[in-house]
Amino acid sequence: MTIDLQGKVIVITGASSGIGAATAIECARAGMNVVLNARRAERLESVAEQVRAAGGEVDTVVGDVTDAGISARLLDAAQQRFDRFDAVFANAGYGFKKPTHEVAQEQLRHIFEVNFFASVDLINAAANRLIQQKRPGHLLMCSSCVAKFTLPGYSAYTATKAAQNHLCRAMGIELEPHGIFVSSVHPITTTTEFFEVSQRLGGGGSAAGKSAPAPGHAPKLFVQTPQRVARAIVRCLRRPRPEVWTSLTTRAVAAAMTLVPGFMDVVMRRAGRADG
Ligand SMILES: NC(=O)c1ccc[n+]([C@@H]2O[C@H](COP(=O)([O-])OP(=O)(O)OC[C@H]3O[C@@H](n4cnc5c(N)ncnc54)[C@H](OP(=O)(O)O)[C@@H]3O)[C@@H](O)[C@H]2O)c1
Repeated sequence: MTIDLQGKVIVITGASSGIGAATAIECARAGMNVVLNARRAERLESVAEQVRAAGGEVDTVVGDVTDAGISARLLDAAQQRFDRFDAVFANAGYGFKKPTHEVAQEQLRHIFEVNFFASVDLINAAANRLIQQKRPGHLLMCSSCVAKFTLPGYSAYTATKAAQNHLCRAMGIELEPHGIFVSSVHPITTTTEFFEVSQRLGGGGSAAGKSAPAPGHAPKLFVQTPQRVARAIVRCLRRPRPEVWTSLTTRAVAAAMTLVPGFMDVVMRRAGRADG
């Protein structure tokens, strides 16, 4: 089954840069209209211009994904401007590097609020509206390859990504009878602002600050562009599947690490040493 995306509408959070921005532009190229969200208004407007140049109509909603009522505002914006929404991509997220025992409760709760709870809130709100309207749809969340294995120093971040993955897999089956697809997206190291933000938020803990698997440090095989992720997402919108992967090698390594947890520790210890 191939879905025609012409005239369909997608709501994307975290659309002012990186994967969210690239996905918005790629969706417009595929004939979709988009509603964009992020906190930085000017950056969002610049992405909106690129969406228009790619042939899409666009609306923007500036705000933090943890703001009360933001999910309803985003879906309302789509319905008011386009009279519909067909897909939602809960993509806003961030990471930081800090040993687990140095992560303050507030920091742990905040990363779960942004990466997990806000994504779930949007996906749930979208699911409930689609069910009420008796319309099919596609709900996507930006998880990560680290949903399947953890990274020392990034346990808080990887835990949010694993939680997103689990929730999406269950929801996909729950929503099948309603004709609603649910997909989690699992990018590998992607050349975005993610690593600058991560560095900034890591703070001064004992193992913080150094750049872990940042694009400049990771082997080329494990680095990709946000445009590559965006193209994979559009392919998934056309032909829905439960998980979007952009690296077969990483997927295989993840499977091996699940099968043999001791192997995961050996790989991660080495990665930690290389990172300094
Ligand atoms: N880059 C990678 O290697 C990689 C790998 C796997 C998964 N991912 C995932 O990909 C997603 C997108 O990240 P990216 O790599 O594209 O990084 P990015 O360039 O830093 O983009 C993050 C986006 O999220 C927005 N955002 C962050 N916190 C927000 C909040 N509280 N409310 C609203 N918007 C917020 C940012 O916009 P504002 O600052 O303007 O709000 C920005 O548009 C994340 O979920 C990340 O976990 C990234």
